[in-house]
Amino acid sequence: MSAPRAHWGSRIGFVLAAAGSAVGLGNLWKFPYIAWNNQGGSFLIVYFLAVTFLGLPVMIAEISVGRRAQLSAAHAYAALGGRAWGVLGWVGVLAAGVIQSYYLVIAGWSLHSLGECLGWSVGGYVSPVDGAFSAFLANGPLQLAFTAAFSFLTSAVLFRGVSGGIELLNRWAMPLLFALLIYLVGTALTLDGALAGVAALWTPQIQTFRPAALLEASGQAFFSLSLGLGAMVTYGSYLKREDSIPRAALAVVILDTVVAVLAATLMFILLYAIPGLAERVSGSTVGMLFVTLPELFYTKIPGGIVLAPAFFALVAIAAVTSTISLGEVLIAAVTDTWGIRRDYATVATGVAVFAGSALAALSLGAVPALSEVAVFAGKAGVLSTLDHLASNYLLPLGGIGTSIFVGWFWAAKDSRIQLALPSPLFLIWLWSVRVVAPAAIFALLIAVALGKDFS
Ligand code: PHE
Repeated sequence: MSAPRAHWGSRIGFVLAAAGSAVGLGNLWKFPYIAWNNQGGSFLIVYFLAVTFLGLPVMIAEISVGRRAQLSAAHAYAALGGRAWGVLGWVGVLAAGVIQSYYLVIAGWSLHSLGECLGWSVGGYVSPVDGAFSAFLANGPLQLAFTAAFSFLTSAVLFRGVSGGIELLNRWAMPLLFALLIYLVGTALTLDGALAGVAALWTPQIQTFRPAALLEASGQAFFSLSLGLGAMVTYGSYLKREDSIPRAALAVVILDTVVAVLAATLMFILLYAIPGLAERVSGSTVGMLFVTLPELFYTKIPGGIVLAPAFFALVAIAAVTSTISLGEVLIAAVTDTWGIRRDYATVATGVAVFAGSALAALSLGAVPALSEVAVFAGKAGVLSTLDHLASNYLLPLGGIGTSIFVGWFWAAKDSRIQLALPSPLFLIWLWSVRVVAPAAIFALLIAVALGKDFS
């Protein structure tokens, strides 16, 4: 007989774990960059719209599928809708494996930067030679080592189970992350010229608004809220019957959005307050996050010797609470399918994903064949290819499938009981899931077909 299904120890445990999944590199790294490219102001409004009418309804839908079925993504759809819908769950599992493979590599860089900053804080800052970061990326053994370290960290948490591992980590990691981020923003606000950055982020400028921003915001909302691959289905399956899903989902969406906006505020302040910075980071936030920030901390920002390592600790914490949710999708799929023990499943999925991660880790210059493969035009290398595949195809497909399934096929009566929402709110939710979400995601897929890139 298999063990009874694990559950969260408390409602706040679920909210923090789901928020931990949502808050990740997408918030700290992608969001500020997209906001910057869209010149701030108007993008925030569009993003808030996307989160409210696309993100929140789909999140509610995913969590309720999981809780109703009490099964992981891989099986929940089949249990509620029949075998054909099961495919949707497995597409999600595939997406989780794909994202985990490259996410672990980038997450590993945060450990590298953390180590570097600890060294500088103790021994004094030495400005790295030009091209040091590219050399690090192209260093195969180092890339493998940091990726392996992060995989190990992730599996170590997962090994301890749902409430003893995932919930426990998130319980202290999420408040810590908030505190650190608020402290960083607070410090940045004391810089000369900081307010210009805040104003740039918060003042809507209709003249610079591009319609494409609507789609970018939708794609980003999806990735940032961990939607479209069954992570929320899986976490929802550990939710007890009596907890309110809409309230929990709302809390998660708000927490995720607040972190994204705080991170963007931090970046905008730095970009406005430090002369010449904006020109140097144009093109990519990889440089911004891993190269420019340490230099700024040590040369321009008071208290930098504490703040620099704190910042990279923050990035690592945000990343690990996301990688464990991706790992959990895989583990739950394996345990729900074969009924094997959780600890075996943790090791097996960890090793399997590491095989993919190793290819991604070596595709940044270390191994030419892996760095040059191009499945999608203009996306050279395994890492970019996997990111492109997940963000442009797998997540939108998962999202459109989920909203159609929940909106049109899974009995509206059942979801009504599940959600216990007052009638007008229920109808807004239902029609967002039925029409708004599929239409927005469909537009996104069309844009992808026409050559737009959301990775
Ligand atoms: N939401 C995470 C982030 O913003 C990424 C993620 C996507 C995690 C999907 C789990 C599932 O970084």
